[in-house]
Amino acid sequence: MNAPNGVLGDRSKPDRLRVELGSRSYDIVIGRNLIAAAGEHILPLLAKRHVVIVTDANVAKLHLEALEHALTQAGIDVDSIIMPAGEATKSFAEVERLTGLLLDMKIERGTTLIALGGGVIGDLTGFVAAITLRGIDFIQVPTTLLAQVDSSVGGKTGINTPHGKNLVGAFYQPRLVLADTATLDTLNRRELLAGYAEVVKYGLIDEPDFFKWLEANGVDVIEGDEAARRHAISVSCRAKARIVGADERESGARALLNLGHTFGHALEAECGFSDELLHGEGVAIGMVMAFDLSVTLGLCPAEDAARVQRHLASVGLPTAPGSVQGRFWSAERLIGHMGRDKKVKDGRVGFVLARGIGQTFHPAYVDLAEVAAVLETAIAA
Ligand code: NAD
Ligand code: GLY
Repeated sequence: MNAPNGVLGDRSKPDRLRVELGSRSYDIVIGRNLIAAAGEHILPLLAKRHVVIVTDANVAKLHLEALEHALTQAGIDVDSIIMPAGEATKSFAEVERLTGLLLDMKIERGTTLIALGGGVIGDLTGFVAAITLRGIDFIQVPTTLLAQVDSSVGGKTGINTPHGKNLVGAFYQPRLVLADTATLDTLNRRELLAGYAEVVKYGLIDEPDFFKWLEANGVDVIEGDEAARRHAISVSCRAKARIVGADERESGARALLNLGHTFGHALEAECGFSDELLHGEGVAIGMVMAFDLSVTLGLCPAEDAARVQRHLASVGLPTAPGSVQGRFWSAERLIGHMGRDKKVKDGRVGFVLARGIGQTFHPAYVDLAEVAAVLETAIAA
């Protein structure tokens, strides 16, 4: 396996990256079996030797005991709260329930929350940490590939409302991200692939060599080759840390992380944000559409768009809406969803577009007739 990006180092030690945000800077630690060593990583960061682990029912069965054991062994008092699994948990009702449980425990300002799970648990726990007692510390222990390469890093926390996804939340950074690659062994293939779409995203944004590396080694990442997986996670986190460090609140470069998301969110919204289409699957289809739109507008070589589609399809990700069984798609309805997206400014829909692989830019305000044409072609594919 070639490692062009230079993140790879000594395999006996975890990779350690830093998100540079002044007094709110923190480390991302990536390696195998890190949960067993969680005490040594977490104890030095605690204001008080008390943590509350927040997890979901699926992850609790698989990884909670190991984390509780590791922390207890380090002399930390541990409480745990198990939430229902699934997107519906990112709701006001569950925020109210979770804050209520924490206040019943009589937590203090020095208590630290630990989010053990995927993006749902990370987003919810981060938001609850931001508002409980006007802000307490939290740590991310991400257990899905999507959470390890994206949602646990960068401090976007929040919940969904009937108005849409992630519309209520806060920028609130964790004190540490501890990504144990061994947790991915228990993740099902569909969820793993959905997370892989976000890995590909970093190559497409501005790391063309990483995309090339994924074309050669992506199957190893998915099949569980430890070195390949760790490399992919580290390069992804390094890219995200760099972008967040430059633009924490998304007033500029951070918007590039939304590559494929304007299309993807519209597809997800049409599916009611259900398991019919996972977030990463929507992003995969959306990235293909963003490249196709870039070609249509004469910005990007057709061969680059074809490479994106080929690679995503080669690992088994969906690349067109037709992969969702039994759903009737309408370009008009998808454009309607885009109009309700967070990425709308002054009534105009902003896209991340590409001049080629690794050459994305933002914002690009595009005539909606061009967008509709790309959607219609994709729907017919
Ligand atoms: P998720 O948290 O729902 O996890 C997916 C499923 O996998 C769940 O059923 C969960 O119980 C299960 N699971 C988690 N870890 C497991 C493991 N190790 N083994 C077996 N099963 C496991 O979904 P996700 O894809 O991790 O995250 C999606 C969420 O992340 C969405 O709400 C999205 O909005 C959010 N997100 C946030 C950001 C951000 O920057 N904050 C970025 C991208 C996505
Ligand atoms: N996942 C997009 C962001 O963190 O900005």
